[in-house]
Amino acid sequence: MPRAILLNASVQADVEKAAAALKKGLLVAFPTETVYGLGASALNEKAVLRIFEAKKRPSFDPLIVHVCRRENAIELWKRVPPKAEALMKKFWPGPLTIVLEKNDTVPDVVTSGLATVAVRMPSHPAAQALLQAFGGPIAAPSANLFGYTSPTTAQAVEEDLGEAVDVILDGGPCPGGLESTVVLLEEGGSYLLRPGGIPSEDLKPLLPDLEVRRDVVESAPMLSPGLLHSHYAPWTAMTLMDRPLKDFLKNITETARAYELKGIPWPRIGLLLFEKVPSRGPFEVAETLTESSDMKEAAANLFAAIRKLDKMHLDLIVASSVPEKGLGAAIMDRLRKASGGRVGLPESITEALNKPES
Ligand code: TXA
Ligand code: MG
Repeated sequence: MPRAILLNASVQADVEKAAAALKKGLLVAFPTETVYGLGASALNEKAVLRIFEAKKRPSFDPLIVHVCRRENAIELWKRVPPKAEALMKKFWPGPLTIVLEKNDTVPDVVTSGLATVAVRMPSHPAAQALLQAFGGPIAAPSANLFGYTSPTTAQAVEEDLGEAVDVILDGGPCPGGLESTVVLLEEGGSYLLRPGGIPSEDLKPLLPDLEVRRDVVESAPMLSPGLLHSHYAPWTAMTLMDRPLKDFLKNITETARAYELKGIPWPRIGLLLFEKVPSRGPFEVAETLTESSDMKEAAANLFAAIRKLDKMHLDLIVASSVPEKGLGAAIMDRLRKASGGRVGLPESITEALNKPES
């Protein structure tokens, strides 16, 4: 199969070429302020089906529809309650996805047969330009293979989907780095389905009834936990630190020394951190997401850092934690999922020391 055509998001003629590809029913990956999306015309069922094939995404996981005008969103929904109006006014364009009952015009393939549709208005100028040039709604999940880390650069899209995507509109690295916050609005309540680029604390003034309800988005993987034990996950085993960084470093230093005394090869470990550490230690590499506790910076670097570590063929990635407030909540959500729920060093590391010497 031919490779994807690479276009430049800052060249208007290229944006128009990308829009023409969408009109033909082709798949176009494009930058947003959060992550790259894998776009198709939302009203073209065949094109939307190709998104699921390209990502190897199960058909039960619904897509987000992107629009560049409020009116385009309203057309996709059956009713727009005042709380949706208020959210659009305050947070659009931006990383907030609103889920409401859908209109019949939205094909069932987009929503995986659900009665609701998720819509967002991206703020990234390239996404806006593409939507303007295309003139209709674009269905787009993150442009990664299903279950893998989301892409924040055109290169990451190409590495993941290379031959399965027709066009990649390169707009440089995504500034936000975390996917949009997803909220479901019902008459009886408002539910946070996915923490993301807009912290839930910022939504609370407009949605005092906001409750966390992850079961809706995550019920799909729950149906086949063996198959999908994790999400946003690198191929390399990943785990979260079970103690403060200083204690963790002390602990692995002692463990590594015990390995050395016994002549056992020490595993190749990569660290994912929120502060700088001395460059030498019982680890191959330490990726620091921010040196100044700036969660915006950490979010923007997160997925690229995970991808970088994943390419190093390490035995293990160990990530430290941040407080779950503001963007920290979404960062920890992604780290937990990337770790498949694992916390602490794997038992195999300490077990190796208990084995009788041969
Ligand atoms: O920032 C983002 O949201 C990026 C960019 C490309 O816009 N998109 C993105 O899409 O992250 P995706 O498909 O990777 O994640 C969409 C999430 C999924 O968890 C999906 O299950 C949920 O939104 N979702 C979509 N439609 C829904 C619906 N009708 N009801 C409940 N959840 C829905
Ligand atoms: Mg995704």
